[in-house]
Amino acid sequence: MVEISIKEGFILAKLALKGGEPVRTRPFPKWPIFDKRELEALKSVLESGLWGVGGSRKKEFEEKFASYQHAKYGVAVTSGTAALEVSLRALGIGCGDEVIVPPYTFMATVTTIFYVNAIPIFADIDPEAYTLDPKSVETVISERTKAILPVHISGRPADMDGLLSLAKKYDLYILEDACQAWGSEWRGKRVGAIGDIGTFSFQSSKNITSGEGGMIVTNDDDLYAKAWSLHNCGRLLKGPWYEHHLPGGNYRMTEFQAAILLVQLERFDEQTEKRMSNARYLNSKLSKIDGIKPLKDDERITRNAYHLYIFRFDPEAFGGVSKSTFAEALQAEGIPVSVGYSRPLYKEPYLDYFKRCPLSCPYYGKSVDYSKVRLPVAEKACYTEGLWLRQYALLGSKEDMDDIVAAFEKVKENVDELKK
Ligand SMILES: Cc1ncc(COP(=O)(O)O)c(C=O)c1O
Repeated sequence: MVEISIKEGFILAKLALKGGEPVRTRPFPKWPIFDKRELEALKSVLESGLWGVGGSRKKEFEEKFASYQHAKYGVAVTSGTAALEVSLRALGIGCGDEVIVPPYTFMATVTTIFYVNAIPIFADIDPEAYTLDPKSVETVISERTKAILPVHISGRPADMDGLLSLAKKYDLYILEDACQAWGSEWRGKRVGAIGDIGTFSFQSSKNITSGEGGMIVTNDDDLYAKAWSLHNCGRLLKGPWYEHHLPGGNYRMTEFQAAILLVQLERFDEQTEKRMSNARYLNSKLSKIDGIKPLKDDERITRNAYHLYIFRFDPEAFGGVSKSTFAEALQAEGIPVSVGYSRPLYKEPYLDYFKRCPLSCPYYGKSVDYSKVRLPVAEKACYTEGLWLRQYALLGSKEDMDDIVAAFEKVKENVDELKK
């Protein structure tokens, strides 16, 4: 029953968005987290005089991070975007090749395919997991398909069983976009090198960060040698400085970034445990609210980095209120919820830029019209259903989680105020 406060003849709103008292005004843990160790690490790089080439931190971080991801090799680069582009080139993907991607991801997953003159082909996501749906992937495989590019969105591994079996059946590469999934595991194996090659991001919002940065991991000797060469101006691992064997560029991570990341990695396990335990708590509480569904449990996911806590919102259970209004109401209550991706990537204007090449390239010999693509699950996720809680909120205390639950319950109880 909605309680209505009346003061001096006015009906006072309960919801903070309408002028009521917010559930909380205290901030959640501040992001990024650092302490004296990062400051000392930076100082020691400064004083060494080796800020880039010649330093030891980049190599040390490559080895530590690769081993953390259960991979043989790591190549540290300037960003997740660079990691994707270099990985595609290392796989030899180029003109006339198709790469299958989900449309519910950050734009770099798709634009980097265009950067190598290949063609992104969109497949739908699973309605309860929001990761690439192998059934949909199989429907778009063609004689031109060279690779599947699953995204471990929010830290949640994609269905690697289904995707690996397709890769085997059709002889395709798998490039894992693990830019949000440091330490995430599928059946006990960390993501990135479950397929042929994988990528990570250390951009400022990410759970391990140096402001910007990226990593490529692989178990394959040849792919490692190629990725290493491509990120370092086409040089050979043991070759002379001015010999350029592949059309690479300068994508090298600096020693400052690597020094910070080595420290960030030390904290990471403890932070991940906390995010996972808070996410479990939220799952148990929020799933009791009619109209809120956390992504489904999957016992094959043995660790989840929770870069985002994604949940599904049903506008009908909230009297027809839109997901953006619901997000605004929660924000006003002091909860960092956002609408996330609000249209599938095949609807973005940037696609026009590639209309001539590679989309109409005679070498490709086919034509793709993205305006005809309709992927209902991804559209629902973007337009009406998918909402995100930011990762740093999951580093809060049990009381912080209870505030989140209280805010959801409060908005649900007073949803009529949002319709006015
Ligand atoms: C899924 C995904 N792929 C790729 C990237 C690109 O990483 P970066 O921003 O480091 O270039 C990001 C980063 O936002 C991402 O979330």
